Amino acid sequence: MFRLAARSLSIPSRSLLKSSSIRFASSAPALEANRSHLLPTHPDHPPPADVVTFLQEQSEGLLSTYNRPPLVFVQGKGSFIYDTQDREYLDFSAGIAVNALGHADPEIAQLLFDQSSLLIHSSNVFHNAWAGPCANLLVSLTKSHGGLSLTPSSTTSTSTSAKVFFANSGTEANEGAMKFVRKFAKDTAATPEAAKEKVDIVCFERAFHGRTLGALSITPNPKYQDPFAPLLPGVKVGKMNEMEGIEELINEKTAGIVLEPIQGEGGVWEADVEWLKKVVGRAREVGAVVVFDEIQCGLFRTGTMWAHSKYPVECHPDIVTMAKPLANGIPIGAILVRDEIVKVVTVGSHGTTFGGNVLCTRLAHHVLGRLSAPTFLSSLSTTSSLLTTLLSRLPTLFPTLIPSPVRGRGLILGIPFSHPDAPGRFVELCRERGVLLLTAGTDCVRVLPSLNVSEEECRRAVGVMESVGVVMVEEEGWTKEGKAGKKE
Ligand SMILES: Cc1ncc(COP(=O)(O)O)c(C=O)c1O
Repeated sequence: MFRLAARSLSIPSRSLLKSSSIRFASSAPALEANRSHLLPTHPDHPPPADVVTFLQEQSEGLLSTYNRPPLVFVQGKGSFIYDTQDREYLDFSAGIAVNALGHADPEIAQLLFDQSSLLIHSSNVFHNAWAGPCANLLVSLTKSHGGLSLTPSSTTSTSTSAKVFFANSGTEANEGAMKFVRKFAKDTAATPEAAKEKVDIVCFERAFHGRTLGALSITPNPKYQDPFAPLLPGVKVGKMNEMEGIEELINEKTAGIVLEPIQGEGGVWEADVEWLKKVVGRAREVGAVVVFDEIQCGLFRTGTMWAHSKYPVECHPDIVTMAKPLANGIPIGAILVRDEIVKVVTVGSHGTTFGGNVLCTRLAHHVLGRLSAPTFLSSLSTTSSLLTTLLSRLPTLFPTLIPSPVRGRGLILGIPFSHPDAPGRFVELCRERGVLLLTAGTDCVRVLPSLNVSEEECRRAVGVMESVGVVMVEEEGWTKEGKAGKKE
């Protein structure tokens, strides 16, 4: 196995690039890009011999479903993660929006030790000590933070409470939600004929809901779907934020609608409130169930408990699915269902072996308590405002590369690029300077730090991004037509 070396970070002392700065020409004070990270400090290539051997041996047993750089992470602390060469990376991907409280959190580590010393799993044949308290906390936090139309002061609220089913992942949470949608349609249909007809599920272009066959059926991306067709029948695909055609799209045959209020994998696109009002209003008219997939954007990533918490209750859903950060990296998913739908989820309707075991629900209970603390949320608000401000410099500094404003809310932010090859190169160059980011959709780099990221860490990460912008524009000659070749 790999040995960890003493930590050190070599900072380049000289610049290979021209000294001229990228400036924003206007009467306003010139904006200058950070040039402190022009040289790679964490090159992917060549990987050290022990990594090459390890990856070679790994490839004998492990299916290669992922395209990964040749590095192996072995340790983390807060927003930092370390590879086998003990190189320190600032993790602004947070394990794809999972590590809300960062890496190697001491309280999480202690809880894991305490609970695993007591009991990890006893199956859903029996009750356990933490699934119930965790579910109750999810419901009470949703009531106090607003969501699922449970806001007590609201006069238009039709719900008084909600209940939770625990699954193991995001895709399973969505599978369960789709089953509840179908069952609600069948159980509440006026006639057996109507029950047979009301089976359609509506989803939207660019959505990502998971990789199992049901969730994949509502993830309308040919790259993911085509190799596995035929998929679930009765799926209708609409366009997010398109007001035209909602009446035809959502009709008497629609059992449910599934959407992300902020599309994550699709490129950080937020739903307009007016569009949501129309979609949810139409769903109410035809008796369709509304599911919000908040697996990536929920659980405080936007600064509020749910991305939809800040929307008027007329555009709240009936079901919310969640997963990723709920237990800070221990696999868990959950379906939060408002009371009208609760009635159809009866004994035997759904089940799982692992879902909601005592280990993951005790951790989730702890994570929810920490994320919802007012001091945590106030600091999240300060850091996310700073990060948004810092990132907003990028389109001004590199208008041909990054032609429009940064998208998103809170700590789910997307940098839009003019050429589809540019996001991948940007992510690679940032990684080679010690900052981990993700691509998303066709034009976007996603910025998803841990929710307890510090202001200093945000400054450092954006500093690297600015230097990478300089490298791409000045050194590699990127324009909106792509990489034009190295400039002299
Ligand atoms: C919005 C959304 N839904 C569903 C999923 C699937 O979750 P999982 O990978 O845990 O199955 C993801 C994963 O990225 C997601 O972002």
